[in-house]
Amino acid sequence: MKCDVAIVGAGPAGLLLGHLLRQAGIDAVIVERQSAEYVLSRIRAGVLERTTTDLMVQLGLDTRMLAEGQLHSGFNLADGERLIRIDIEDLTGSQVMVYGQSEVTRDLIDAAPERGLEVVWEAKDVALHDIESAAPSVSFEQNGKTQTLTAKYIAGCDGFHGPSRRAIPEGIGREHERVYPFGWLGILADVPPCHEELIYANHANGFALASMRSNTRSRYYIQVPLDTDLAQWPDERLWDELAVRLGPDAAAHMTRGPAIEKSVAPLRSYVFEPMRHGNLFIAGDAGHIVPPTGAKGLNLAASDVTYLSKALIARFKQNDETGLEGYAAKALARVWKSERFSWYLTNLMHRFPDHGTFERQMQLAELDYIANSRAAQISIAENYVGLPL
Ligand code: APR
Ligand code: PHB
Repeated sequence: MKCDVAIVGAGPAGLLLGHLLRQAGIDAVIVERQSAEYVLSRIRAGVLERTTTDLMVQLGLDTRMLAEGQLHSGFNLADGERLIRIDIEDLTGSQVMVYGQSEVTRDLIDAAPERGLEVVWEAKDVALHDIESAAPSVSFEQNGKTQTLTAKYIAGCDGFHGPSRRAIPEGIGREHERVYPFGWLGILADVPPCHEELIYANHANGFALASMRSNTRSRYYIQVPLDTDLAQWPDERLWDELAVRLGPDAAAHMTRGPAIEKSVAPLRSYVFEPMRHGNLFIAGDAGHIVPPTGAKGLNLAASDVTYLSKALIARFKQNDETGLEGYAAKALARVWKSERFSWYLTNLMHRFPDHGTFERQMQLAELDYIANSRAAQISIAENYVGLPL
């Protein structure tokens, strides 16, 4: 098999890139380890920056997002007593779109066949070869047969655990990492949200987040120790704790219901550089991870592929390689700024095991400063809606 661009991974990064390249008439094939059903069943964040919704508009895949997604003009920080509203529309002129990542993925997967975007699902033993050569390839096993997909370029969009980043020879790559000493216990339930906007709460018991997927489906999280056993958190205990951490206003409007999904996810900040080696280009979680505070993961994947698709299109349409040469530096500059914001919001809103009363007072003083300073609110708002491309 041959194509122009072989894409490893059919998460949001790989699917968006595949569609953008197909739209420009470039022959791209995606190789994915899992089934489409499995990819769709993964529950992730659901706050889209304008840069991300613009891509769906550009692809003409925005009908369901515009009909079912919710445009939010603000979000809230809570400090245990009050809600501090960050009016992102007033502060920046932009809004964010609340539309689940699995819905974005569904729209991209559903449109793939009609747009001639081939996705090889359930590919086993995916491996990258000759990434420094002019004919790099991806091998995989399908239905018991080994196949080789030879391309001009490979896009590594295979998430944190995929093989692409690891194909870069040791000694060339550099990792920057921070692992946080807690996780998020998330619950998805078919109940109306407790508030019309998101609430990120810093309570003495730890962080909590009230989010939503629609007017009838809510998503909540609490900070928990990493070794938390889910059995210790029956639904009622979790609702009780959410009510405490989110504060009395939210608690008064909280509807309880059975969990459709409940799980603990670790928090990590991670950046790998460079995002290019030879003819392999890394995008999305394959190159960087942010903690979910601020919901930047999918949005960073979208900005990476915005840069990468433009660079590849210039290469194939005008034989211009300058975009490809600049990709890694350009993408990383935005990645680091999103890393900074996610790290900042994580530090501001969580209880850390080594925090004493001083660190706690610093958090509360900063929240009070934010509550009373338009300058501080603008800084948070412009990062939340997404820095310019
Ligand atoms: N071969 C092929 N595909 C692979 C392999 C492999 N060996 N290993 C992993 N993959 C696939 C995964 O199954 C997944 O579908 O790569 C895809 C990577 O998708 P994501 O992890 O979603 O990463 P990305 O597309 O970069 O999206 C970034 O979306 O999933 C969230 O937390 C993520 O919010 C972040 C954003
Ligand atoms: C979510 O709805 O799952 C969500 C929203 C905002 C975040 C993280 C997760 O910052």
